[in-house]
Amino acid sequence: MARRTAKKSGKSVRVGLLGLGTVGRGVVEILTRHRALIAERSGVELTVVRALVRSSRQRRGAAGRVPLTRRAADIVAAADVDVVCELLGGLDPSRRLIEQALRAHKPVVTANKAVLARFGPQLFELARRQGADLYFEGAVAGGLPIIRTLREGLAGDRIKSVMGILNGTTNFILGRIEGGHSYEAALAEAQALGFAEADPRLDVGGGDAADKLAILMHLAFGLHVPSRRISTAGVVGLSPEILRDAAALGCRVKLVALARRHEGTGGGIEAHVQPTLVPLSHPLATVGGADNAVAVESEALGLTLYQGAGAGGLPTGTAVVADLIDVARNLAAGLVGRPGPRLDRAARLLDGGRSAGAYYLRLLVSDRPGVLASITRIFAAQGVSVATIRQERGGARGGVPVAITTHPASTAAVARVMARIGKIAALRAAPNLLRMLT
Ligand code: HSE
Repeated sequence: MARRTAKKSGKSVRVGLLGLGTVGRGVVEILTRHRALIAERSGVELTVVRALVRSSRQRRGAAGRVPLTRRAADIVAAADVDVVCELLGGLDPSRRLIEQALRAHKPVVTANKAVLARFGPQLFELARRQGADLYFEGAVAGGLPIIRTLREGLAGDRIKSVMGILNGTTNFILGRIEGGHSYEAALAEAQALGFAEADPRLDVGGGDAADKLAILMHLAFGLHVPSRRISTAGVVGLSPEILRDAAALGCRVKLVALARRHEGTGGGIEAHVQPTLVPLSHPLATVGGADNAVAVESEALGLTLYQGAGAGGLPTGTAVVADLIDVARNLAAGLVGRPGPRLDRAARLLDGGRSAGAYYLRLLVSDRPGVLASITRIFAAQGVSVATIRQERGGARGGVPVAITTHPASTAAVARVMARIGKIAALRAAPNLLRMLT
């Protein structure tokens, strides 16, 4: 519950940073570079009093002038810290430190999608009980103001769907592979540029995008589901051949996260993260580099698109600084404890098999009579209509590549097709299945 407190005396708000990595350094850089602008616009001065770090390696630029500590209590329990900014990432000790700060009635700004995706409702409830703000714009889609858009801009509208590219690293990797680079080189470059997670398997396996989708679903639909319940596939194993097939079909491959409301009795929220063939005419197809984009469809406003830098220190730092300014304004006004996103007890996740979509399938099979016929028979038996089929000449490992696209079909039926194709003796390698946006 929002409560009035004594207004913070003076106009200076003191920030304690948990973490001084890529995003932390971006935050310090922005606060230093735009100090006068921020003070002029918001009427408050934000000062970083100290930062918790795990290693005392030399830091260049503005971050090099921030006093450091190894003791978390120097931030979360310090009398000279007005707002705690958690930028450590990962679950531990981040979650514990966020809780400690909230229990000490300190407002918290975090960019931690992993913690919010798993423990969002508990943390928002704790913040409510303690009358402290919990802001998290930097947790989803880097610098894009998608949290504010859902919380404020669309507060009066009913959301129908949220669809987007929520992971910069994988978008960067896909673009690099299209440009002829290897997967490994592209990932190493994304790591060097500071886009990737400390454990890049979270990026390439789709888990990072699933965490962000879980947070967006909480805001858009009042539905909190742990991200492990969101059907998730990443970009590992996507070959240049698949990207070339996509181009031949007038598409680009993107890692698309989708959450959509199904209306009517028995409805629910469909949600998945999957490599997807996106037609070149669709706005998501042209999102390049480490950019993110989110398309929101709402009843009154219709379709809106938000696009920009989804990873990196300055872009994500911009989102974090915006939150710090909001919190500082609240403190200066003596108003804290803004309610977090609500839960809708009636909202539930749609059983994955009940959704539908068009698919692209790539197989490597033995080149002998009857193989194609046996494959198409499987599709026919499951009632999945083939839209296109193309077999190339000879391929790797002695097999021939076959690329198949389907008309829109039930996901459950396509899963049955995959299970049966997985058993045919002619199969020479694990098949790839991608969604197609139609
Ligand atoms: N590793 C993330 C990405 C960083 O690549 O999008 C931003 O959350």
